[in-house]
Amino acid sequence: MSKKILVVVASTRPGRLGPAVADWFVRATAGTAAELGVEIEVADLAEVGLPFLDEPEHPSTGIYVHEHTKAWSRQVGAADALVFVTSEYNFAMPATLKNAFDYLSAEWAWKPCLFIGYGNTSAGTRGVQMARGVATSLRMLSIGGDIFLRIAEAFSDGKVIETERLAARAREALTELDHVADVLRPLYRADQEIVPAVLADAPELLVLQRCCWVDEALANDTLELPALLEPEHEVRAGLREWATWCVRIDGRLVGSVRAKLDGDKWHIGRLMVAPDQRHSGLGRRLLAYAESQAPAGVSAITLFTGARSEKNTAFYQKNGYTLSSYAEVPAGAVGLRKPV
Ligand SMILES: Cc1cc2nc3c(=O)[nH]c(=O)nc-3n(C[C@H](O)[C@H](O)[C@H](O)COP(=O)(O)O)c2cc1C
Repeated sequence: MSKKILVVVASTRPGRLGPAVADWFVRATAGTAAELGVEIEVADLAEVGLPFLDEPEHPSTGIYVHEHTKAWSRQVGAADALVFVTSEYNFAMPATLKNAFDYLSAEWAWKPCLFIGYGNTSAGTRGVQMARGVATSLRMLSIGGDIFLRIAEAFSDGKVIETERLAARAREALTELDHVADVLRPLYRADQEIVPAVLADAPELLVLQRCCWVDEALANDTLELPALLEPEHEVRAGLREWATWCVRIDGRLVGSVRAKLDGDKWHIGRLMVAPDQRHSGLGRRLLAYAESQAPAGVSAITLFTGARSEKNTAFYQKNGYTLSSYAEVPAGAVGLRKPV
């Protein structure tokens, strides 16, 4: 599971330049995004289609009555960082961007943002300055390295003129956004919220899984347990291969679980909770969450645990699983299955 950077295209008028700027940014940063494990998604406000703010409650309540607000909340809430591609209209940001800002509150907070402004004489700087003030009041952190494009010089036939110098600035900005998002993550992901794990979580996952699998080693009288032995690069490989989720408390990674499709079965693994957080219901929450992420059409949920891990087996049985042998269960383990 990767971090997500949301590129918001502010202008909505027919024939606008905004999408061409977003296209250029996505293309220029594609290689860097892949290296960093970052997914770039574009939110074109013309497609998001928000009417002028029509929610009865203040956005800080998080109470939304309209489906368009809920969808916008989900999209911004899932982002780790924002890139605002904005034109300048009459020395200001387009009203569409201000409106999109105003719809939400907590979804923006503590996330780093970058501005790409474009315009005529000012190259969009005045519009960006205004948008930055709004972003700051929403608790976003505007990083350095904003990009400004003067239309007469930076565009040809409605497209950004691509130069290596400009692409390098985009790559540097993306890298900075990613780095700042890592640092701010404990602030913008609320305590105890189950969120997708990212590659940057690998060192902490390594520590947590080694700690948790010591109990498995003791219960099963073996050290031959992949979760106990694998080095960090294998944890990172696991993050690329499996959908993995984690939970933090006060910034500390205290729980995790992962799952992947195995034929027509949804296979769950590596359910772990830090010793001081056990018996709090966190393991049950993580398991239920991983189950809820099963794609439609799977026939069963499967997992395995150590053959002598009696507490684990009892926990899974309490949560609807029955012992069941299937081909992929490794030696020394027992399989469990829950029908969907
Ligand atoms: C309503 C309007 C107001 C504008 N005001 C400014 C301005 O204040 N400063 C500027 O540099 N360009 C201004 N322009 C020119 C825009 O920068 C240019 O048209 C740009 O392509 C607009 O972005 P868009 O194509 O994504 O809509 C304005 C354009 C429009 C349509």
